[in-house]
Amino acid sequence: MPGIVIVGTQWGDEAKGKITDFLAKDADHIVRYNGGANAGHTVVVNGKTYKFHLIPSGVLHGKEVYIGNGVVVDPEILADELEGLKREGFHPKLHISDRAHVVFDFHKLEDGLQERLKGNLRAGTTKRGIGPTYSDKTARFGIRIADLLDEEVLKSKLDILIDLKQKIISQVYEEDVKLSKEGILRKALQFGQYISDYVCDVSAKINEALDRDETVIFEGAQGTLLDIDHGLYPYGTSSNTIAGGACTGVGVGPKRIDKVIGVMKAYISRVGTGPVPTELKNSIGEKIREVGKEYGTTTGRPRRVGWLDLVPVKYSIRVNSIDELVVTKLDVLSGINPLKICIKYECEGRMIDTIPANIRTYEKCEPIYEEIEGWQTNVNWKKIAEEGYDALPEQAKEYLQRIEEHVKVPITIVSVGPERMETITLNRELS
Ligand code: IMP
Repeated sequence: MPGIVIVGTQWGDEAKGKITDFLAKDADHIVRYNGGANAGHTVVVNGKTYKFHLIPSGVLHGKEVYIGNGVVVDPEILADELEGLKREGFHPKLHISDRAHVVFDFHKLEDGLQERLKGNLRAGTTKRGIGPTYSDKTARFGIRIADLLDEEVLKSKLDILIDLKQKIISQVYEEDVKLSKEGILRKALQFGQYISDYVCDVSAKINEALDRDETVIFEGAQGTLLDIDHGLYPYGTSSNTIAGGACTGVGVGPKRIDKVIGVMKAYISRVGTGPVPTELKNSIGEKIREVGKEYGTTTGRPRRVGWLDLVPVKYSIRVNSIDELVVTKLDVLSGINPLKICIKYECEGRMIDTIPANIRTYEKCEPIYEEIEGWQTNVNWKKIAEEGYDALPEQAKEYLQRIEEHVKVPITIVSVGPERMETITLNRELS
């Protein structure tokens, strides 16, 4: 099974970082294919928490890690992460695609200004400059990692780009900010020098690894409902978060993907704007937020939380060709009784179980719930993780079985705590 994609089935923050780290022990290479420092992947090992925005989560296992061409790279954040890991005694075997695009400070400024202009249409971005960098990439104004290693090319590209950005900032947004061409060029060249040893053709390296039958994990960032094409446009991010993004964002053909693993939380969370049909704005929601520590890894914003909604999961299974599901944060639901699972929506007098393209229609969708008995609070999850699936409370097993019955995809891993070891592998197929 050499090519494995790990993809989020909801609104991101499904704990993909933890699952990538867990699966990375049996992999040889881990490659990020989309997004940038808007992502916040958390891994907890022996009580120590590591947060990654750009470096793939498999780095703690000492595996070869890659930043694919589909990622947008923020130099300062990447340098911070690299130096932080080195201080902790890690020696990241990092490879950065020469085709990845670079995020500049003016992109971050523009991100905030665009959000201000958009009013109700704002996505509540992370202000990490993600949208403006991808816009420049698509408009063919972008600066790529390879450009940082060629002063002449970089200077000529930045000349045009900075003139454009200055006009946008001063004349469109009427902001009193002066961009310094010299300063921006100098910083970009310094960063180019700093990363030069890591820069390579990631597509070539990953294809060679797959030729040797080595295992490659394609680590997705954000979730399917944030995908630029298949998400809740315009309330999502600017990249292809779905499994297909692994092909374009790394440079492998679809036949290279052998397995797609979808990660879903046992409930839903959303940071940012847009409709969330099962959102809980009551004490149950507050309890889930506090117990689940549902605060943005990147921005610290409180996440909106709600009952598990299987409509996005079914939709994700379709657009990603998901083979297996991982359910995370099951422990967070302890002590809530009864639990509810949304299985379809009632929308304008009809029952639907997919995501409509029209956001106004989605706003009108009312969840149809199934109720299920919860389990008690005093559960020793660490012990259960050691003992395996059979040790789970009966109601928790019933919760998982209901999910499988509705979505018709087997659950193969269940996560019951943030630690690497608080993970249960289910070695069974859907009956
Ligand atoms: P951007 O990706 O910063 O442009 O933000 C666009 C939307 O995606 C906003 O609603 C963000 O809150 C959301 N978003 C971006 N990255 C993540 C993530 O890693 N987890 C969850 N939501 C995210």
